[in-house]
Amino acid sequence: MRRSLVSALVVFVALFTFAIGAFAKPIVIKFSFVVAMDTPKGQAAQYFAKIVKERTHGKVIVKIYPNAMLYDDRAAIEALQMGALQMACPATAKFTGWIPELQLFDLPFLFKNTKHLHKVEEGPVGKKLLNLFRRKGMLGLAFWDNGFKVLSNNKHPIVLPKDCKGLKFRIMSSRVLAAQFKALGASPQVLPFSEVYSALEQGVVDGCENPWSNLYTKKFYEVAPYTTETYHGYLGYVLVTNAKFWDSLPPKIRKILDQCVEDATRYEWKLAAELTKKQRALVLKDPKVKDVILTPAQREIWRKTLVKIYPQFYKTIGKDLIEEAIKEGQGL
Ligand code: LMR
Repeated sequence: MRRSLVSALVVFVALFTFAIGAFAKPIVIKFSFVVAMDTPKGQAAQYFAKIVKERTHGKVIVKIYPNAMLYDDRAAIEALQMGALQMACPATAKFTGWIPELQLFDLPFLFKNTKHLHKVEEGPVGKKLLNLFRRKGMLGLAFWDNGFKVLSNNKHPIVLPKDCKGLKFRIMSSRVLAAQFKALGASPQVLPFSEVYSALEQGVVDGCENPWSNLYTKKFYEVAPYTTETYHGYLGYVLVTNAKFWDSLPPKIRKILDQCVEDATRYEWKLAAELTKKQRALVLKDPKVKDVILTPAQREIWRKTLVKIYPQFYKTIGKDLIEEAIKEGQGL
C-alpha cells in the first residue's frame, strides 16, 4: 500500500515537473539590425534563430527585426545596454561612442585580404577588442563579416583620389571614416543607414561607401550608379548581447547558445564571401551601372593617400594595436 502511494507520488511529481517545463515561457531574444534579410547578417541571424530553437527544444526563441524596423544602430546599442533588446550586430564603426578602439577596423588599407582580417579577429587583437565590451554592460560575442567597400556616387566616374574632391559622402559614425573622406578632399556626412537611399536621391549626399551586399540589397546603385572597386576599407560587425542577460542564463542553455554563436559565425563568414560575389554580379548586370576597376598602380595611389591618416588615431585606437594588426598580415 505504502509502496504504491510512493510510486503514485513519484509519477505525480514527474508529471507536474513536465507540465511546468512544457508550459514555461520560452526565453525570448530580440535581435535587431539595419540591413535586409538577404544579406550575410540577415541570413546568419535566421540560421542562428533556427539552430537555437532546435537545440534548446524551443526553450529559447530568437525574434528577428531586420531593416531598422525596431531601432537604428545607435538606438539598438542603447536599448541593448538598457536590457530592452537582447542581441544586435552593428558595424564596428557604430560603436565609436562606446568603444573607440573598434575604429581599428575602419582604417583604410589595414587588411590585405579576408584571411588577414580573420587572423586579426581570432588572435590577441580581436580578443582584446571583444573584452572591451563588458565595461559598457555588453558582451562582444563574435565578429561577423560583410566585406570590403566600394565607392559609389551619382556625379561622375571616380578613378583616382582627386576625383572625390568636393563630393559629399555619407559615412557611418566613425572619426576614422570622416578623416578618410577629408583626406580625399570630400565632405563626410554621418547618416543612419535607413536614410542613405533618399539622401542620395535628394542630393543630400553625392555618394557612399558600401560592401556589395549592402549596395545590392538596398539598391543604392539605382541612385549612385558610378561604382569604383577601391576596396579601400572593410565593413564588418560585432554580434553583441547584454552582459547581465547572458550571464543570467541557466548554464546549460548558455552553453548551447555559445555553441550556436560559434556555428552561426562560421556559417556567416562563408555566406559573406559567397554573397559578395553573387551580389556584385547582380549590381553590374544593371546597364545603368558604370563600374571602375582599378589597376594595381592606381590602387597604390589610393593606399598612399589614405594611410596618411593613421597617426591621427594612434592615441584613440592605440599605436600598438594598429601595429599588432598590421603584423598579423605579414606573409599573407
Ligand atoms: C551602415 O550603416 O552602412 C552599416 O552599418 C549597415 C550594415 O549593418 O551593414
